[in-house]
Amino acid sequence: MDQATSVTELRQYVQRWRNRGQSIAFIPTMGNLHAGHLSLIEKGQSLCDRSICSIFVNPMQFGPNEDWDHYPRTLERDLELLEGTGCDLAYMPTASELYPDGLDRISKVHVTDLTDDYEGKHRPGHFTGVATVVLKLFNIVKPDISVFGRKDFQQYRVIGKMVEDFNLDVQIVGQETTREASGLATSSRNQYLDPEQLALAPLIYRTLQDAARQIDEGERNYAVIERRAIARLDGASFETDYFCVCNAETLKPALPDDRDLVILVTAALGATRLLDNIEISLW
Ligand code: PAJ
Repeated sequence: MDQATSVTELRQYVQRWRNRGQSIAFIPTMGNLHAGHLSLIEKGQSLCDRSICSIFVNPMQFGPNEDWDHYPRTLERDLELLEGTGCDLAYMPTASELYPDGLDRISKVHVTDLTDDYEGKHRPGHFTGVATVVLKLFNIVKPDISVFGRKDFQQYRVIGKMVEDFNLDVQIVGQETTREASGLATSSRNQYLDPEQLALAPLIYRTLQDAARQIDEGERNYAVIERRAIARLDGASFETDYFCVCNAETLKPALPDDRDLVILVTAALGATRLLDNIEISLW
């Protein structure tokens, strides 16, 4: 596997492949890789000749009270895991090259509408940080496709809207969520759970599945479904930020006639916020 840290180096590899007519899949990450990330790389490999994974703990998407400093950095192991997937190139940009004049001076990408609620509300500026770095990475790498996890459903949709709104020439692919045997969505954050919390955590997905089943069976009073789900989670010592049955396209609260739905949930166990969702098609 090749490695690049500068834009010039990265572009040399890409150019070599382009000269041979090869297509390129790009998977942006913040490292601390796990099975979920690796499934994105494998998806990219199934669709393109070459795969590039970036590892960059993007300071712009962390709020002042969030732990950019303490985000787990496990580069050596990440590179071993990437190597194991047959990834072609690991790109590890530096903050000084991506943000030469610091975070305040650089132009920023604001994606409208989809960023108002949920993680956008809870983490002001977060999606601006995500969209800005992803746009920069797209322009540096110029991939044919880029794979994002549906685990972070709002992020996946925000990137899709940015691509549409700015006519970016890249195809966004959404890869389904990798889960532990318990149903818990695989996440870097799971390592912060103590054994007791780890035993509780799968209740999030079970609650999503039960809500999806009720909707499948015809329940259309989404407010009732949401209230019950939140009561169940909070009763089991979660602190639920939101559990919302949404229109999968607009991410607004679903209307009774909407047919493509997603239930977005974030619930904290102690200091750890766990994100998950389930998609429902009523066609
Ligand atoms: P990070 O949290 O490292 O996630 C990188 C990618 O892995 C994202 O597309 C995320 O949705 C996906 N992913 C994480 N857990 C997953 C799981 N269990 N199943 C499937 N996919 C999963 O998301 C980011 O980094 C950053 O915001 C980034 C897009 C890199 C911009 O900085």
